[in-house]
Amino acid sequence: MVKKVTKAIFPVAGLGTRFLPATKSIPKEIMTLVDRPLIQYAIDEARAAGIKEFIFVTSRGKSALEDYFDSAPQLEAELRKKGKDDLLDILKTTTMDSGAIAYIRQQKPLGLGHAVWCARRLIGNEPFAVMLPDDVIAGDVPCLAQMVEAHAETGGNIVAAMEVPREKASAYGLLDVGEENGPLLSVKGMVEKPRPEDAPSNLAVIGRYILTPNIMKNLNRIKAGSGGEVQLTDAIAAEIAISDDVYGYRFRGHRFDCGSKAGFLQATVAFGLAREDLRDEFSEYIRSVAAQETAAE
Ligand code: UTP
Repeated sequence: MVKKVTKAIFPVAGLGTRFLPATKSIPKEIMTLVDRPLIQYAIDEARAAGIKEFIFVTSRGKSALEDYFDSAPQLEAELRKKGKDDLLDILKTTTMDSGAIAYIRQQKPLGLGHAVWCARRLIGNEPFAVMLPDDVIAGDVPCLAQMVEAHAETGGNIVAAMEVPREKASAYGLLDVGEENGPLLSVKGMVEKPRPEDAPSNLAVIGRYILTPNIMKNLNRIKAGSGGEVQLTDAIAAEIAISDDVYGYRFRGHRFDCGSKAGFLQATVAFGLAREDLRDEFSEYIRSVAAQETAAE
C-alpha cells in the first residue's frame, strides 16, 4: 500500500533578489496577496491535501515568518473585548497545532535541492511534499490535493507540470515526457534551465512535488549544477535513471509566478477580482484604467 503523504517541506531560505529592496527586511513569503501573505495560501493548500507536519527551511532574516504562525495573545484579547469574532476566526487560520510546525536553518543559499536536503532528518523514511510558496495556484481543487490523490494510486515521485511559452522555457526545469495517461505523464528525463536548443519540451516543473525518501539519498551525493546551486531537479533526474517511478502531473488550475513582479501583479488582480467584497469597486477601477490606456494609444 502507498504510504500517505503527511509531511511538507516549504523551502523559504532564498534571497528573493527579484523583490529587492522589499526583501531586504521582509521575507518574500510574507508579501501580501490582497490581505494574506503568500505563505498562507501555501499552508491552506497543504492542509486541504491532508498535510499534518509543516517543515520550513528558513534563513537569517525570516523571523517575520515564524511570528506569523505564532499566537498573538494581546491582539486576540483586544479583538475579543471588541466582539470582533469574524477577525478572530481569520486569525485562527494562522495558528498551528503545537508541534505541527518545525523550522530548520539553511545556513547558505546553496540551492533548492540543498534546502530540501536540510530537512532530511525530519522526513525520515516517508514520502513528502515540497511546496514553493511563490507559485500560487488557483483552482477548484487545490493543486497538492490533486497530486496526493494521484500519488495514492501510483506511489513514486510526482512533479507538477505545466506548458510554458517556448521563449520562457529555459527559465524552468523541463520534462522529457514518455507516455501520457490522463493528467499523468511518465518522465524520461528532466533538466534544469537548459539552453533553448537543449530543451526537451516546453513542459515545465512548477513548485509542487511529492517525493520519495530516495530523493534525499540522491541529494546526499549530487554536486552543484545549473547556476552553481544544488538542484532538486538533478536529484529527481537521478531517480529516473534508476527507477521508472517519476511522473509529471498536469494539474487543473491557474498558476501565478509570484516570485516575479509581473506574476505577483497578475495574481493581485486575479485574487482581488475573485473576492466578493472587492469585486465591484476593483473591476470598475480596472476597466477605467484600461479605457484610459486605450484612449492614450
Ligand atoms: P528562487 O529561484 O525563486 O530564488 O527559489 P529566490 O532566492 O527565492 O528568489 P530570487 O530569484 O532571488 O528573486 C525558489 C524557492 O527555493 C527556495 C526559495 O526560498 C524559493 O521558495 N530556495 C532557493 C531556498 O530555500 N534555498 C536556496 O538556496 C535557494
